[in-house]
Amino acid sequence: MPRKIAAGNWKMNGTATDLTELDALGTQLPASSAPTVVICPPAPLLFRASEVAGPHGIRIGAQNCHAQSTGAHTGDISAAMIADTGADFAILGHSERREAYGETNRDVRSKTKAAWDAGLTAIVCIGETGEDRDANNTLDIIGGQLAGSLPNDVTETNTVVAYEPIWAIGTGKVPNLDQIVEVHDFIRARLIRRFGQQIGAALPLLYGGSVKPDNAATIFQAANVDGALVGGASLKANDFAPIIHALAAS
Ligand code: 13P
Repeated sequence: MPRKIAAGNWKMNGTATDLTELDALGTQLPASSAPTVVICPPAPLLFRASEVAGPHGIRIGAQNCHAQSTGAHTGDISAAMIADTGADFAILGHSERREAYGETNRDVRSKTKAAWDAGLTAIVCIGETGEDRDANNTLDIIGGQLAGSLPNDVTETNTVVAYEPIWAIGTGKVPNLDQIVEVHDFIRARLIRRFGQQIGAALPLLYGGSVKPDNAATIFQAANVDGALVGGASLKANDFAPIIHALAAS
């Protein structure tokens, strides 16, 4: 069984005062065999977030990393620097970065290798646009992104795949359960075909896009959904905690 993961992507939201939300979340977590909870704050908060989250067993992740380990890359942050803050994860290939910075599958693959080299677990994002879905191209797009974004040495512990339909991000629109099942079953089959039964079946698959406390339990009914990558609803402990509880109960 893949491990359950509830990951929060704060995107470009939050300053030091918002770290109180991490403390608040820590007091609302389910007992013991709870899902792994990961919060991905903006880079300037990584170090302090690690200190606040650590005692609660909450893990920290970055939202991006550079593919190179050091060098003349003004404004960029390497995976080793992220690991140095105490973070364990990095979200890579989020659609907002693919769109705004032209990140390609090849870039995401390079960044994934860099994350692994620094000991980070990569949360690799894939997802189709609304036009892709309307044109019935969803599985082709997802298959291509998956093939291109993942390096060959994927294991069930160094990589998490997050399926985030772009049209569902920040819109309040969510695919229906059949659509979520179809894509996640497809991703699982592709992972097993490429990486073998043991790794492919155990690698965590997350759904992302307008996950909220009132739809989380339905989404987690899908057999190949092992958790969620949550944007807006991860900013407040009172919103994120019920999603984590729904995952724990699934
Ligand atoms: P929302 O949950 O705000 O739709 O964002 C999803 C997302 O992009 C997480 O990475």
